[in-house]
Amino acid sequence: MSKISLSRYLVEQQREKGHIPADLRLLLEVVARACKSISHAVNKGALGGVLGSADSENVQGEVQKKLDIIANEVLLEANEWGGHLAAMASEEMDSIYLVPNRYPQGEYLLLFDPLDGSSNIDVNVSIGTIFSVLKKPEGNQGVTEQDFLQAGKQQVAAGYCVYGPQTTLVLTVGDGVVMFTLDREQGSFVLTHENVQIPADTQEFAINMSNMRHWDEPVSRYIGECLQGKEGPRGKDFNMRWIASMVADVHRILTRGGVFMYPWDKREPHKAGKLRLMYEANPMSWLVEQAGGAATNGKTRILDLQPSQLHERVSVMLGSKNEVERVTGYHAKV
Ligand code: AHG
Ligand code: MN
Ligand code: MN
Repeated sequence: MSKISLSRYLVEQQREKGHIPADLRLLLEVVARACKSISHAVNKGALGGVLGSADSENVQGEVQKKLDIIANEVLLEANEWGGHLAAMASEEMDSIYLVPNRYPQGEYLLLFDPLDGSSNIDVNVSIGTIFSVLKKPEGNQGVTEQDFLQAGKQQVAAGYCVYGPQTTLVLTVGDGVVMFTLDREQGSFVLTHENVQIPADTQEFAINMSNMRHWDEPVSRYIGECLQGKEGPRGKDFNMRWIASMVADVHRILTRGGVFMYPWDKREPHKAGKLRLMYEANPMSWLVEQAGGAATNGKTRILDLQPSQLHERVSVMLGSKNEVERVTGYHAKV
């Protein structure tokens, strides 16, 4: 059987399954093309002059890396002229980016974390791009930030591209999770995994252990029990991984299971968490749910949370269903 490209997958989703309208198909093709271009820049590394910091900070007060800015520009430029979008929002921009007047306006809103795992860029460890697609609410003429403030369950497409030993694009349009590997000779994404499923049980967790002393009791209890291994209440040994690129940690979980946590902690108690709800937690949570896993903030399903700000942060626990339910259950008992 011949290889199925991303374009063919999307055409079939549109034509045979009626899952996606033509404009959404175009949008996803354009996002994939932008990711391909970011992948090339990442691959060049020092040869392309893309490593190191820029002399700027983003809205969250984080120092921007050159690649944060390059990836953001690539996504904006690729998406602004096609007529499929009304506006975009990004981790690297304070406010929303309206499609310039000279181009036709579409009905979709695109949100992204252009470069996830910035601390890994210069050390040649996997990084990625995360994206989420919403429909612009009907009736409104212009677009405002308010139009973006929709719960994650309203997403119409979500995905990420991981720039690792392979460049892999992972996507859901609400019909399960599929993975495409970039074929560099052909220049196209080729379908390599269908019907991705996360096993309900796991013996692998991902959390930044250096924050242990700042955690809340339910998270301390859960990780403490994992660490006790066979001799403890769980009766089995656990392994740990922490890549510090959410894309790479989630990619491992979609591939072989596991649980990922970036919980609220006492370092900055006024912040709900470190990760951003709208362009990190929401797309990842939908992918994880579409693969049979679960995602909560410890108390509530992430996809049910009503955002009140574009750059809102959230506590995140996602992955293998039984583990996420367990740690969420521990929060309920407090
Ligand atoms: P970003 O590079 O977009 O700011 O996101 C980094 C995030 C996430 O990818 C990762 O899981 C986490 O930050 C790592 O944080 P620590 O350095 O605190 O472990
Ligand atoms: Mn990120
Ligand atoms: Mn980022």
